[in-house]
Amino acid sequence: MKIDIVSVFPEYFEVAGLSLLGKAQDKGLVTVKAHNLRDWTHDVHHSVDDTPVGGGAGMVMKPQVWAECLDDLLGLDAAGAEETGDAQATPTERSEDAPVQQARDGRGGRPVLIFPNPSAPLFKQADAAELSQADHLIFGCGRYEGYDARIPDYYRGQGLDVREYSIGDYVLNGGEVAVSVMMEAIARLLPGFMGNPASIEEESYTGAKPLLEYRQYTRPTNWRGMEVPQVLISGDHAKVDRFRWDEALERTSRIRPDLIERLDCSQLDKHDLAK
Ligand code: ADE
Repeated sequence: MKIDIVSVFPEYFEVAGLSLLGKAQDKGLVTVKAHNLRDWTHDVHHSVDDTPVGGGAGMVMKPQVWAECLDDLLGLDAAGAEETGDAQATPTERSEDAPVQQARDGRGGRPVLIFPNPSAPLFKQADAAELSQADHLIFGCGRYEGYDARIPDYYRGQGLDVREYSIGDYVLNGGEVAVSVMMEAIARLLPGFMGNPASIEEESYTGAKPLLEYRQYTRPTNWRGMEVPQVLISGDHAKVDRFRWDEALERTSRIRPDLIERLDCSQLDKHDLAK
């Protein structure tokens, strides 16, 4: 998988060289490249933002600079007209299918364009799983009050797969942290990323039973007077499984009742339903 990230703080992503993501890069499973959006500016101040049309506080990221950058990363020909103003390129100036085809066949394979945005649908484990199948992800980090709404719309109009996601109901200063979160959630699902793939199958939000995970313990079994649950040292695997499942169900109903509402009831047995 190839991951391009566009940001005004590309240094932020130097951490991608560390930990398991760094190892995955060394193994050739994924390449992560952060680009500085300001490299696509032409003015002396390298400005990437402007005041909001219609008034209001803050600054909005300009579509022209984003489009120059994204066209380059996607291997698309520039649309032509937008740099000079509002005029539309005519169909004869721009083939409707060519840019998409170029992007599909071009550098890095099937691209998905992802913009973090606090006003977008929540990013879920299922999104991470779906995006882990893509060949090429391009993340665009917004700053200030966000980016011009026409940027994602334009690339959707070009036939590209464009996603906008929020990572939670809070507002960050920019998309960089959100991209780090999404990138890690996606990359760790790549085959070969995790030393032990079983650890992915059992964790929260995944699989046929998307519950919060049961609590884990390690040795010593008595630590500062606190015992681990006796059943876990009983050696009875069926009882351990039952204990963990009950705990996952109890914790999920208490902490995240919304997940229980979405649970497929055929996953439950008489013992669960009696509770
Ligand atoms: N940018 C600012 N806040 C964000 C959030 N919660 N999710 C995604 N992108 C953001």
